[in-house]
Amino acid sequence: MKQVFNREKDIVILGIESSCDETAAAVSVNGTQILSNVIYSQIDLHTLYGGVVPEIASRMHIAKINQVIKKALADAKITLDDLDAVAVTYGPGLVGALLVGVSEAKAIAWAKDISLVGVNHIKGHVCANYIEHPQLKPPFLCLVASGGHTHLVKATDYTDYEIIGRTRDDAAGEAYDKIARAIGLGYPGGPKVEKAARSGDPEAFAFPRAKIDENPYDFSFSGVKSAVLNTINSCKMKGMEIDEKLQADVAASFQAAVIDSLRERVLMAIDEFGIRDFAMAGGVASNQALRGALKAACEQEGVNFYCPSPIYCTDNAAMIAVAGYFEYRDGNLAGLDLNAVPGLRM
Ligand code: KG4
Ligand code: ZN
Repeated sequence: MKQVFNREKDIVILGIESSCDETAAAVSVNGTQILSNVIYSQIDLHTLYGGVVPEIASRMHIAKINQVIKKALADAKITLDDLDAVAVTYGPGLVGALLVGVSEAKAIAWAKDISLVGVNHIKGHVCANYIEHPQLKPPFLCLVASGGHTHLVKATDYTDYEIIGRTRDDAAGEAYDKIARAIGLGYPGGPKVEKAARSGDPEAFAFPRAKIDENPYDFSFSGVKSAVLNTINSCKMKGMEIDEKLQADVAASFQAAVIDSLRERVLMAIDEFGIRDFAMAGGVASNQALRGALKAACEQEGVNFYCPSPIYCTDNAAMIAVAGYFEYRDGNLAGLDLNAVPGLRM
């Protein structure tokens, strides 16, 4: 068996992710090199119901997790005996889904007598940036936008974060998913709204850009979501058909409002905190229009811009293995009493 790492010196970590609707496992070496990255997406199953059904997600994780881990080890050309540690997402996420990954990781750690590392899923998203950008080092500013979270954070170290702003209501991805459903695009919303928006007019509707008085860095997406719903309802009441043109214009106008809100806070933080490096993370960071807008904004400010490839933006275990490596290096190990924490904060 050919090994691309030094068994004595290198730290080999198996990452496991099962917080929502992706069952994933990956192997990393020293937190930067990814030897394998296996993702089983349950999207097709949940599409039938228009969104993630927690009970189905948990059952599917149980059905798939061993297979996914076996493939991650095989792709990496290693066995469980080569591992130094197993890192697992223990929150935030769906409790039943998280428990599958946590139980699996505990079983491996116990059976192989190796270290167990609990990883915060949101920190995992940030760490996805280290995979393809080894030159990126803390401190930097990071916008994490996913289906469950929207945070603007300062990564002060590889494992420490200072939260500058967070959403007061819906996460950005959640807003994409909800408006996709409202305009008849279905699930998963993000990629579908992005595609529809490409042929729409971003100025067709003036959707609101919320401002939060107490903390100007906080986000709110419930206002723009309600405005979209009201627009759709009034169109229906006028007997208008929700055709492709209307879908595209609503999608483009909604996306423009979301991008404006995110960009405004990022620019404000760059200015106030003298930021030199900015990174994006989370499922919404795979949105090309958002990436383009924030990249252009950073270039204008002379700030280095980083963003993971889309495969490392949406849920994956490579980011968990990488975040796990940094926790391991800092000595942040978990005991076999590690539990799922659905509401875990950053
Ligand atoms: O990070 P992620 O895979 O899972 C969570 O941790 O939530 O993010 C999923 C979210 C979903 O809400 C999905 O609609 C959104 O990311 N998303 C997108 C795009 N691709 C995924 N949102 C906007 N544009 C996209 N291209
Ligand atoms: Zn995620």
